[in-house]
Amino acid sequence: MHHSRDMTPVALMRASQGPGAPRSRSLRDRLMRVAEAAVTPLMPSDVLDMFDPLRSGADLRGRIVAVVAETADSATIVLKPGKDWAGHKPGQYLRVGVDVDGVRLWRTYSLTHGPRADRCISITVKAIPDGKVSNHLVRHARAGQMLQLGQAEGDFVLSDPPADKLLLVTAGSGITPVIGMLRNMFSRAVPVVADIVLLHSALSRSEVIFGDELRRYAAEGKLRLVELHTDVDGMLDVADLDTIVPDLAERTTYACGPVGLLDALEGHHGERELPLHIERFRTAVVAAAGDEQSGGTVTFSRTGITVEGDGSTPILDAAESGGVLMPSGCRMGVCFGCVLPLREGAVRDLRNGELTVAAPGDGVIIQTCINAAAGACDIDH
Ligand SMILES: Cc1cc2nc3c(=O)[nH]c(=O)nc-3n(C[C@H](O)[C@H](O)[C@H](O)COP(=O)(O)OP(=O)(O)OC[C@H]3O[C@@H](n4cnc5c(N)ncnc54)[C@H](O)[C@@H]3O)c2cc1C
Ligand code: FES
Repeated sequence: MHHSRDMTPVALMRASQGPGAPRSRSLRDRLMRVAEAAVTPLMPSDVLDMFDPLRSGADLRGRIVAVVAETADSATIVLKPGKDWAGHKPGQYLRVGVDVDGVRLWRTYSLTHGPRADRCISITVKAIPDGKVSNHLVRHARAGQMLQLGQAEGDFVLSDPPADKLLLVTAGSGITPVIGMLRNMFSRAVPVVADIVLLHSALSRSEVIFGDELRRYAAEGKLRLVELHTDVDGMLDVADLDTIVPDLAERTTYACGPVGLLDALEGHHGERELPLHIERFRTAVVAAAGDEQSGGTVTFSRTGITVEGDGSTPILDAAESGGVLMPSGCRMGVCFGCVLPLREGAVRDLRNGELTVAAPGDGVIIQTCINAAAGACDIDH
């Protein structure tokens, strides 16, 4: 299932080196490896990748230069991106491709760095229970390893100049896009003058990612910080917002956190027509949950692999569980990193229940991360 052309140069080298090989290698070793690799059908670009994986024109990658523990379950990964990295606006995210147990998996992570003289970028990952990529990155990422990258995307960014009065509502790892905004705002030559309230929830004080930095900003008078530790304070109730932030109606709100919090904020702010920008890390699935009857066999016509897709599992997940190497990104219908042509059959959008049907030969483009099989499907992949 996993072809050598899909492996990173590091994975290629690791595969040929064996686990006990020393990390540093001489030019002669590298040339030997290239010569050995020449007996397999490596393309010239593969050879170039072994010498200069960050060069312009190569697939976009990043070399890990540091892994910094933030809390017991989270870490910041600092990356030197390839020469084609086009920069980002604070608050945006990027797709990251990671080889886990020989399979390349793609996830999305918000960019957390402020301006850096070394032009490195960073993401901050919180390991979630049973999470394949997040645990791999937090516990096994090491300096020197390479990750595949996409360019920065997303519209969860501050206006320029930002609104005079901001309310930032974050919870858990939802602080990540917001710390990027704050770091960039506070390090401008001409500091941004904004009245900022940051309302952050985490399980406990020690679980607050970037806790020391946020408290320092508060002590320096750069923002008003309201920390909720849900182990003692309970979950944030949006009905309490007027009490916590008396001038709420004058503020533009940016929020990132769990689905329940964001849904509640949308309802609360929508009713009062208050300006709200949200970033979701997960999509709310409303349709077909548990509808086992409506699934079907999904055939990937190029590889000939078939998997059984039930009516409530995204085709992306079903395919990956069946060992199919799939393109993907955010896994929640935002980035279009997972689109593939549906040659024939029907799929159901798990967000709203809408059916998409393709007659033979149609090749309708579908997002596999938010569509489940609704009968037998033939996908061009
Ligand atoms: C735009 C965007 C930006 C993001 N930025 C960040 C970031 O800066 N830092 C960060 O740590 N994560 C971020 N995420 C979430 C990240 O992309 C992954 O979803 C997360 O790391 C889990 O991946 P995994 O492979 O470990 O879990 P998986 O192996 O895919 O899933 C394991 C289990 O956890 C559940 N699950 C999946 N995702 C989540 C989630 N986000 N919360 C709770 N349960 C989940 C799954 O349903 C499954 O049961 C972002 C997501 C998006 C869409
Ligand atoms: S993976 Fe992003 S839209 Fe499907």
